[in-house]
This record gives sequence, C-alpha cells and structure tokens, in this order.
Amino acid sequence: MNTTIFYFTGTGNSLKVSKDLAQYLENVKLVQIRQERLSQPLVTDAEVIGFILPTIFSGIPKLVGQFIQHLEIVGSSPYIFVVSTHGDRQGAGIVSEQIARLLAAKELALAACFAVQMPHNVPARDHLTTAQEKSRLFADEARQIPQIAESIRKFQRIPPKNKKLKSFFERLTYNGGYNSAKTSLDKGFYVEERCVSCSNCSKICPAHNIEMVNGKPKWKSENCQFCFACLQWCPQRAIQYKKGTIGVERYHHPEIKASELFYTE
Ligand SMILES: Cc1cc2nc3c(=O)[nH]c(=O)nc-3n(C[C@H](O)[C@H](O)[C@H](O)COP(=O)(O)O)c2cc1C
Repeated sequence: MNTTIFYFTGTGNSLKVSKDLAQYLENVKLVQIRQERLSQPLVTDAEVIGFILPTIFSGIPKLVGQFIQHLEIVGSSPYIFVVSTHGDRQGAGIVSEQIARLLAAKELALAACFAVQMPHNVPARDHLTTAQEKSRLFADEARQIPQIAESIRKFQRIPPKNKKLKSFFERLTYNGGYNSAKTSLDKGFYVEERCVSCSNCSKICPAHNIEMVNGKPKWKSENCQFCFACLQWCPQRAIQYKKGTIGVERYHHPEIKASELFYTE
C-alpha cells in the first residue's frame, strides 16, 4: 500500500503529525505543500492520500486549495484522509468540508477526517500556551496518532463532525476575515535592526512570498498565507507583526528544525 502525505506547515505542528503518522503506515512519502510546486506538474498514483494542515481562520491555508486543484490524482478510487491541526480546543473548523469540496470537483471523495489539537501558533499574548499545556498536547498527540493510523489502515469512513450553525459562522470567519482580505495579509510584517540576514524567513516561507533585499526580508505582498512561519522561526526574533508581537514569546514545534521546512525538489 503506497501512501503519500501532502502537508502544509508554518511552525512545524503539522509536519510533526505527518512524520509521526508516517511511522505507523507503510511506504509513506511526505510532500510539503509549497508555492514552488505549483509551477511543476504534480501527479500522484498513491493508494492512500493524506492532507495534513493547520486550521487558519477556521479553514484551509489558501495555498492548500490551489495545490489540490493543481494535483492530478490518477489512481482509481484512492482512500483520502485529512488531519487538521488546530490551536483552539474546538478548532477543526471547516477544513474537512473545504477539502471535501475541492476533491468533489475532481470527482473524488474524502473518506476520513481527523483533528489534532496542538499549541496555538498565533503570536499573541492571549494565545500563549503554557509549558504544562504544551506537554499535555504533545502527549495527547502521541496517543492519538496510532489510533488515527489504525483507522487509516482499516480504511474507515469518518465524516466531518461539523454542526450546521457552527459551520455557517466558521465560513463567515474564513471568507470575511481571511479569504477576502482587501489588503495583502503580509502588510503588517516588518523586520528590526537586529536581523542578521540569515534568510531563514525567505527559505521557510511556504508561499515563496519573501525575498532578501540588501540582506533584509521584503514581503512581496502577493501571496502571504498568514502562517506566521517567518516570524516564529526567526532566530533573532527580529520579525514583528504590527505592535502586538513585541515581547511576545515565539513558538515552533520543539522537535522540528527550521531546515526541515526549506524547499527541496
Ligand atoms: C493566522 C492564524 C489563524 C489561526 N486560526 C485558527 C482557528 O481558526 N482555529 C484553530 O483552532 N486554530 C487556529 N490557528 C492555530 C493553528 O491552526 C495551529 O496552531 C496549528 O497547529 C499550526 O500548525 P503548523 O505549525 O503546522 O503551522 C491559527 C493560526 C494562525 C497562524
């Protein structure tokens, strides 16, 4: 059984879940969802296909939608699953519904939906997860992964659990707050003097939205996904978003290295 997991990650939570899940499944290929892949043909004939991604404004990072539209799935009726990682307790949002719709446009069905709560990665004081909560979330994740793998191995059908009313409001949040933002989402990012020009932000950005100009990051105002990878991985904590991130603790998954997020062919 060949499995391909396509993952999007800003701060490593979804990559950690992908790597952990891969250990319990056979012949797994992990493919990072990045802007660069949209300029190449993308074909999969895997029998099992997974999408693992963070919940952003209750829904999918926009790039994931473009990626699924671009992906050519050639196998006959693959088993397709989604794992959404989320920071809020009830945060799986409309991720599964959105992926199901994208697949339906290709005449494919989403077989199973899973959700794993991880530390919230919005760098704001009211989203800070304590060390104790992080340990609990990581322990819960470790417990959940073998169960998710077991469901996948048994090709179980697990539909999304969304309640209609909740889903209605989540759609409003997504479409109103994220998908239809009038200004570019990266408008509030800037870099402080202590930047050492390491260019990690530019290499990590999954949307290929940061170029280095005179040794400093410049957001291109085209394609920001609002994943906060640039800010959260900056080793100097030199990247800020408006005023709210000054002095706020940074987060990325402790077992993931920045270099794992760099683009590789
Ligand atoms: C801009 C933004 C919006 C987010 N919105 C939600 C949300 O609506 N619900 C939720 O549960 N988590 C939300 N999160 C938290 C992430 O989904 C969560 O921390 C996720 O595990 C991050 O995964 P990653 O490290 O793979 O990027 C949001 C994060 C960001 C950066």
